[in-house]
Amino acid sequence: MPQAKRPRELLEAVLKAEENALLGYKTRAEQAAAYGDKGLATHLETMIEDETSHFEETAKILKGWE
Ligand SMILES: [Fe+2]
Repeated sequence: MPQAKRPRELLEAVLKAEENALLGYKTRAEQAAAYGDKGLATHLETMIEDETSHFEETAKILKGWE
């Protein structure tokens, strides 16, 4: 994660990291499903739910900052 000088910059970096995690898990979930590993795909979907929650909470904080 890049160095942040101010709290808002830190939250913006967190938001980007959450988005990257989301995209990565979505790709892996699709790959697991295509491979036929339903257990792994389901586990990754749960992780996507978690990351979506983190992303939305961080976005909400940033929106309230304005
Ligand atoms: Fe997260």
